[in-house]
Amino acid sequence: MDFFEVVRRRRSIRRFRKEEVPQESVDRMLKAAFKAPSSRGRRPWHFIVVKDREMLERLSQAKQGGGAKGLEEASVGIVLVAEERRSGVWVEDLSVAATYLLLSATALGLGSFWIQIRGRYRENGESSEEYVKDLLGIPPGYRVLSIIAVGLPGEVKEPHGEDEYIPEQVHQERW
Ligand SMILES: Cc1cc2nc3c(=O)[nH]c(=O)nc-3n(C[C@H](O)[C@H](O)[C@H](O)COP(=O)(O)O)c2cc1C
Repeated sequence: MDFFEVVRRRRSIRRFRKEEVPQESVDRMLKAAFKAPSSRGRRPWHFIVVKDREMLERLSQAKQGGGAKGLEEASVGIVLVAEERRSGVWVEDLSVAATYLLLSATALGLGSFWIQIRGRYRENGESSEEYVKDLLGIPPGYRVLSIIAVGLPGEVKEPHGEDEYIPEQVHQERW
């Protein structure tokens, strides 16, 4: 699929079919993410690939408001973790890598969506990040940005359209 077609078709897919995502597809997504640009080429990222159903279920409770619920049905959750001291701009570094994962999933015919963990909270007021770190044994000095849920698409969404381009938000030469 042409790159711009991938960009057009990428939507947040939160319902998944039961079939598992082939390991080869997960590997291709991860290999793409490692090619993402990062500040000073520091690549501060670590990826935790979670397939265990019970763990996915527990991770789906990482934040209030149901924003992580789709993980219950996902085949894989890829948790994006940064070594904090390796980059002062790890949020940006990991966000780019996360975007590579999302676009790769679309290119491979998979559904995916971003679950924000950093700066989010659970129903009981606990930090989502601490909850995920505890569950997955992530050591001190490492931060959790997000989880990318991946699976065979269980819902169909319209691709993005040209009407989403807003000329008023594009400025030529200066504001
Ligand atoms: C930084 C960021 C955080 C997001 N957090 C969540 C989330 O926690 N749960 C969720 O279901 N979707 C989340 N999303 C997905 C957005 O809701 C989604 O991208 C947006 O509504 C546009 O829809 P689309 O992805 O289908 O184009 C997040 C996206 C970004 C970029």
